[in-house]
Amino acid sequence: MTAGVDSPLALDALAGLWQDPPTLPVKWLYDERGSRLFDEITRLPEYYPTRRETEILTARAAEIAATTGAEMIVELGSGTSTKTRLLLDAFVAGCDPGGSRISYVPVDVSDEMLSVTAEILSADYPDLDVVPVVADFTEPGLTLPVANGPRLAVFLGGTIGNFTPDFRVEFLDRLAAALAPGDYFLLGADLIKDTGRLVAAYDDKSGVTADFNRNLIEVLRTGLDARNLYADDFEHIARWNPAEHRIEMWLRTRRDVNAWFEVLGKAWHLPAGAEIHTEISTKFEPAALAAELASVGLPAVAQWTDVAGDFLLTLACRRESP
Ligand SMILES: C[S@@+](CC[C@H](N)C(=O)[O-])C[C@H]1O[C@@H](n2cnc3c(N)ncnc32)[C@H](O)[C@@H]1O
Repeated sequence: MTAGVDSPLALDALAGLWQDPPTLPVKWLYDERGSRLFDEITRLPEYYPTRRETEILTARAAEIAATTGAEMIVELGSGTSTKTRLLLDAFVAGCDPGGSRISYVPVDVSDEMLSVTAEILSADYPDLDVVPVVADFTEPGLTLPVANGPRLAVFLGGTIGNFTPDFRVEFLDRLAAALAPGDYFLLGADLIKDTGRLVAAYDDKSGVTADFNRNLIEVLRTGLDARNLYADDFEHIARWNPAEHRIEMWLRTRRDVNAWFEVLGKAWHLPAGAEIHTEISTKFEPAALAAELASVGLPAVAQWTDVAGDFLLTLACRRESP
């Protein structure tokens, strides 16, 4: 669907596409098709994070429910909420019969994925109040719905790795301010490991991640009514940045691109070999992440990895004053 000149996509395109290197916020990767492709990525043999995080949640969900006693789970970037079902099962099972109902608030920019997911969850969990919210969690003024008891904010899938270090601290600060003392935060983060495995996870043999990345060009083409802009003119690149310990995804032009954005009234020229920066996925070290959380008033109460030590779940509690 074409957006207007003052739409969020147009404003982000104006702010990012003429920069050096050109860039766009990660959220634009997640239109309806992008969200479906990401879901496919989570099942790829090379993409270990989803399986590893599932392993930890399977082992720890009951403990998380008992420790937090949360009455509301707010999940940022919930996607299909597939892994979250492990938490929902544990919270519903631990709930007092006749006591207050548990609410689940999935928050995502991908409105189609969110509404389909919320409908399925409502049918599958009659004892749960499912309240989907379409929102951009990177916007200032992050707030969480009010609850009668403790709340658990959940941020899974290693999505925290999409933030630059500066924005990560700003985001965690905002989240800590949105939480009340006694609320909890459950964070999934991917760990630093062998470069070959990391790169393979973002450049799979079947090319699904390449399609996911190139879909950004489709989002620009359809959203900004572009001429002479074709996804096939871009090659998917995934590379490890050792200084920043992160995987970076880029799109490299295969030939000169001379596109025209009707909505912006602007031309976009990229020479062959030019690179657009599309996503970062930072990898962490457990103690450093715990220190970062503690510095914003969210000290860790537990950290767990899967047996192979690939992925990390941190449960943090909002302390009295951040
Ligand atoms: C890496 S996926 C993780 C999905 C799911 N939590 C999981 O663990 O598999 C990131 C999710 O965050 C959503 N997302 C990305 N940027 C967002 C933003 N700025 N605001 C809200 N949701 C966002 C995407 O639509 C997607 O569902």
